[in-house]
Amino acid sequence: MIQARDVSKEYVDGDGTRVRVLDGMSLDVAEGEFVAVVGSSGSGKSTLLHLLGGLDVDYRGELAVGGVKLRGMGDKALARFRNAHVGFVFQSFHLIPNLSAVENVLLPSHFGAAPADARKRAEALLERVGLGAKKDRAPVRLSGGERQRVAIARALFNQPKLLLCDEPTGNLDAATGSGVISLFQELHKEGLTLLCVTHEERMSAAAGRVLRLKDGRLVEERAGSQVAAGGAP
Ligand SMILES: Nc1ncnc2c1ncn2[C@@H]1O[C@H](COP(=O)(O)OP(=O)(O)OP(=O)(O)O)[C@@H](O)[C@H]1O
Ligand SMILES: [Mg+2]
Repeated sequence: MIQARDVSKEYVDGDGTRVRVLDGMSLDVAEGEFVAVVGSSGSGKSTLLHLLGGLDVDYRGELAVGGVKLRGMGDKALARFRNAHVGFVFQSFHLIPNLSAVENVLLPSHFGAAPADARKRAEALLERVGLGAKKDRAPVRLSGGERQRVAIARALFNQPKLLLCDEPTGNLDAATGSGVISLFQELHKEGLTLLCVTHEERMSAAAGRVLRLKDGRLVEERAGSQVAAGGAP
């Protein structure tokens, strides 16, 4: 699902100095894997997700996601790629405040041709994440965990094969975060590939494999064959 080869990424600071965040990083994620990525603040985790999601095209090395080589794709092709292959979930939900839950889930249908059954599908997704009864609520009238579940439903709208998550439980209390982790475990069992940046122990325990981003590269923190106590089967 993901192949990254020798990927390097530098930012240019305000004063013109170049800061290398990723340094010859490689990554292979098979279809259906649930991988957690950990690492200290500033180690480049969000940078990595932006590259994998085709949101940042300024890098060296090779990236392929879902069999699509990202190098050399134009803006339109990248937008199509994102729409077809990738769902994003962020720490801060990124919901549109003046739209209801179901309208937020429907947002991806506004890019490209909306399927005729779009609203039904959006409602079904909200049912799926346990929010069927609250589909017409605005985000301000939802709890943090509920907002994140709306964001997850929206990320799933285009039926992506890959979900990229950036600290999806970072703004949630422990109990609410557990709900999101269980939802990810269910989605993983249904075959979705998940790459989750997290500081949450229980999230990494639920993942099949844990990678640490350190000095610009990914190193295995826990290999796929082991299953942590209380982790996913
Ligand atoms: N647009 C930018 N311009 C310059 N430097 C940047 C830019 N974005 C990120 N950086 C720097 O790159 C490094 C990696 O940032 P990144 O956001 O990927 O870290 P992170 O691992 O996600 O951290 P956190 O856990 O705090 O979210 C940091 O040192 C950051 O200051
Ligand atoms: Mg980050």
